[in-house]
Amino acid sequence: MSFLEVKNLEAGYGPVQVLRGLDFAVEEGEVAVILGANGAGKTTTLRALTGMISTKGSVLFDGEELVGKDTDAIVRRRIAHVPQGRGTVSQFSVEDNLQLGAYIRKDKAAIAADKEKMFVMFPRLLERRKQAAGSLSGGEQQMLAIARALMLSPRLLLLDEPSLGLAPLIVRDLFNTLGEINREFGTTMVVVEQNANLAFKIAQKAFVLETGSIVAGGDAKTVESDDSVRKAYLGY
Ligand SMILES: Nc1ncnc2c1ncn2[C@@H]1O[C@H](COP(=O)(O)OP(=O)(O)OP(=O)(O)O)[C@@H](O)[C@H]1O
Ligand SMILES: [Mg+2]
Repeated sequence: MSFLEVKNLEAGYGPVQVLRGLDFAVEEGEVAVILGANGAGKTTTLRALTGMISTKGSVLFDGEELVGKDTDAIVRRRIAHVPQGRGTVSQFSVEDNLQLGAYIRKDKAAIAADKEKMFVMFPRLLERRKQAAGSLSGGEQQMLAIARALMLSPRLLLLDEPSLGLAPLIVRDLFNTLGEINREFGTTMVVVEQNANLAFKIAQKAFVLETGSIVAGGDAKTVESDDSVRKAYLGY
């Protein structure tokens, strides 16, 4: 059995069905990238995995069914979600946002140590630790959103277009950092990303989503060398 096993996942908004029976699987310690055009259902997939919308089908996480559980119960399984367009509390300081990310944890000393680790990983956050999140630049807010998610000490990290709106150099750094986090902590990740070139650098699995179904997927190298995927997502 896979670490994350999604079977026949269906979800939508009211009468509008968006996900039409998704299947995919990710092993522990892997990075999986989800590619797809605007409106394909990528964000909806991450919302379904985190219990934010009503969902049918099956999501087995480390052998446990998540469908039917609410978001809080899913967070308690140490699944962290960095939603599209940041995900920080803008009136809270950098430091308080990090603290908030650890809200389910009781290990005070380890939380303090992890906070310092985040400041090493993202030095710009250290200089701004007392500053309100809402006053940070877009790139800094994205770093904070990721650091906040890492404060959960996640077993699974879901990232929705982390590169959105960021300068190319910052995006490159961000993906290097995600690769480091994956290697250092063995954190399993599902990354929704339009910047396929960078995503393929850190991914072992890749899935292509088209109007609510997975149309190609599996080993990232195989998907990357697929002609139709290259034309659509890699531009060559
Ligand atoms: N809150 C909502 N209410 C109704 N329909 C929605 C809602 N959110 C998304 N949708 C619809 O669901 C479909 C999939 O949207 P989703 O946000 O999952 O796409 P996406 O693949 O993440 O796209 P993008 O790359 O633009 O972020 C779209 O047709 C969208 O209009
Ligand atoms: Mg989206």
